[in-house]
Amino acid sequence: MKKLLIQLDTDLHPAVFDTVVAYDGGADHVVGHGGCTPENIRALVEGAIFTRAPKEKKYTAMFVGGSDMVAGEKLFKAVQKYFFADFRVSIMLDSNGSNTTAAAGVAKMLSSSKVTGKKAVILAGTGPVGRRAAVMLAKEGAKVILTSRDATRSAEACNIIKTRFNVDVEPLAAPDMESRGRAIEGAHIVFACGAAGAQLLAAQYWQSSPTLEMLADANATPPLGVEGMDMMDKGKERHGKICWGAIGFGTLKLALHRACINKLFESNNLVLDAEEIFALAKTMS
Ligand SMILES: NC(=O)c1ccc[n+]([C@@H]2O[C@H](COP(=O)([O-])OP(=O)(O)OC[C@H]3O[C@@H](n4cnc5c(N)ncnc54)[C@H](OP(=O)(O)O)[C@@H]3O)[C@@H](O)[C@H]2O)c1
Repeated sequence: MKKLLIQLDTDLHPAVFDTVVAYDGGADHVVGHGGCTPENIRALVEGAIFTRAPKEKKYTAMFVGGSDMVAGEKLFKAVQKYFFADFRVSIMLDSNGSNTTAAAGVAKMLSSSKVTGKKAVILAGTGPVGRRAAVMLAKEGAKVILTSRDATRSAEACNIIKTRFNVDVEPLAAPDMESRGRAIEGAHIVFACGAAGAQLLAAQYWQSSPTLEMLADANATPPLGVEGMDMMDKGKERHGKICWGAIGFGTLKLALHRACINKLFESNNLVLDAEEIFALAKTMS
């Protein structure tokens, strides 16, 4: 029986990245749909849940992606509303690589040091990766601050996190380099989660910090998010701080994404979101 992955994307085109990783993760065939919304996916979900016998349902799975995390979360929920009794298939949410990237970055940091009780700053944390990184660090017991260039956006992201995960993350407006420099004062951990090519932190702000222990930067597009780090950094010590660059933890991100796809075909009732993906990342880091 062929392993079929139904890829639902909230963007116009199903992400090629997710399609390629789906094949590498063990799917025999990937059926991608773009422009998916809670209003237009009913037939797609019913096609997935009604076609195979109970024992064979595990060979069909669904994946929700796209660049908009909020839209992805709504779609992920909407798909599961059509599931009932054993008429369900395993499903994963990873809008813009949010869960797998954040989980890999945080798991790698955890492999370097404990984060419990430490102050962690997620720079530009309003995107998909930043929101999930904030949740994962908060669940590990860190006191998390999430910055944005805009106060309303950071507050909105923290509210959404509180509603979905019941963890407290503190919003902070940090519109420029200087304010982001101030934001990391007294911090032990920094995870830069800004858009590709957006430099968030100049070297002077972190290299001389007396408290900072670890940094991770998800951005692999020059200029990097944190000046003075290298995207290949794999727990490399720089200025007394442990550094994880985007490619440095990206190897785990890819392995994790593939492992999640593989896992989807083990049963027909797996739901892979932040909690489950982070738990798996910790076993792989
Ligand atoms: N390493 C990996 O394996 C991997 C995998 C997936 C993604 N990524 C990378 O991870 C990063 C985060 O991904 P994402 O999808 O969450 O990012 P995103 O949504 O594109 O951007 C995150 C945030 O960056 C801020 N931002 C945008 N332009 C900026 C600018 N010029 N200056 C300062 N801040 C700016 C925005 O926040 P505000 O508007 O609220 O300030 C935005 O919400 C990206 O660099 C992405 O390429 C890495």
